[in-house]
Amino acid sequence: MNILVTGGAGFIGSNFIRHMLLKYDYTIVNLDLLTYAGNLRNLKDIENSEKYHFVKGDICDRELLTKLFQQFDIQAVVHFAAESHVDKSIDDPELFIRTNVLGTQALLNAAKQYWKVNQTDKYCNEYKEKTKFIQISTDEAYGALGKEGYFTEDTNLSPNSPYSASKASADMMVRAYYETYKLPVVTTRCSNNYGPFQYPEKLIPLIISRALNDLPLPVYGDGKQVRDWLHVEDHCTAIDTVLHNGRLGEVYNIGGNNEKENIETIKIILNYLKKSEDLIQFVADRLGHDRRYAIDNLKISKELGWSPSISFNEGIEKTIQWYFRNK
Ligand SMILES: NC(=O)c1ccc[n+]([C@@H]2O[C@H](COP(=O)([O-])OP(=O)(O)OC[C@H]3O[C@@H](n4cnc5c(N)ncnc54)[C@H](O)[C@@H]3O)[C@@H](O)[C@H]2O)c1
Repeated sequence: MNILVTGGAGFIGSNFIRHMLLKYDYTIVNLDLLTYAGNLRNLKDIENSEKYHFVKGDICDRELLTKLFQQFDIQAVVHFAAESHVDKSIDDPELFIRTNVLGTQALLNAAKQYWKVNQTDKYCNEYKEKTKFIQISTDEAYGALGKEGYFTEDTNLSPNSPYSASKASADMMVRAYYETYKLPVVTTRCSNNYGPFQYPEKLIPLIISRALNDLPLPVYGDGKQVRDWLHVEDHCTAIDTVLHNGRLGEVYNIGGNNEKENIETIKIILNYLKKSEDLIQFVADRLGHDRRYAIDNLKISKELGWSPSISFNEGIEKTIQWYFRNK
């Protein structure tokens, strides 16, 4: 299989490329613009693999997309590329519309053209069974939960931040390409990821790196926002499963079954590093901050046999050690 991975120099994309190259004999083309969040050092260990090709470029560049589909005979797309930081989206929503919405549409269109999809039943005749477009989305598209309940695939989309609104909009476009053109798409919505190679703007790597340097640890509001932590390696096995066995047109939620209040996560990290809780500094809450996310994994576990295998204790220990070694 020849797979176009977008955003493969970022956190989840780089872990996914490594996972796929180690496990399969597939060709992987990594298209990444190398924004502040992309880093080729994330792929240093596999960059010379014969089956791996890096292309620096923008998912909004339609000509480049057409060229890449042809050049590499792309049969599957795993679409990670995005502006992914909620705080940045509050400062600059336009950038998120450009990359996350327009970029996704450009990619869908390139796939539609190359896979010769059309409105009739003859869609994908030439490529049927062999092609798939995986949209990597987020549970944040569902909005926020109260103390009870879980997001299922039937939960209404109700995004609260410009970031989640841009991801939900992209998901709607993905759905429209399935319904209108029968493009072979599958959407995944995962909970918060953690693990190696994450840019230290997100909670866990931010807290680890600042604590390692004895810097104050900013905590939004009362710190009691709940997140359902998914280790990135578990996420990669879930995407691998969906890529091979997910049903077209479906959405699969992917969660870690690891709900924690942010303040609890921070205290676990401080405790592991033997640092004082005095480093914690409560700051004004993020605008529109979602209170709780939690994923119901029933569909992916029953239908595709996937479930997370890394406990939070094991995953956070490995992650802290990785940041310690890669300061
Ligand atoms: N990290 C999480 O916890 C999480 C949770 C749910 C969903 N997601 C989704 O997973 C995907 C990957 O997230 P991540 O945390 O790895 O993000 P990241 O910010 O670490 O990486 C994003 C990558 O996309 C690249 N990129 C940005 N704009 C681009 C463009 N116009 N063209 C080509 N490349 C571009 C960046 O250079 C970077 O390498 C995103 O779509 C995100 O919405 C992430």
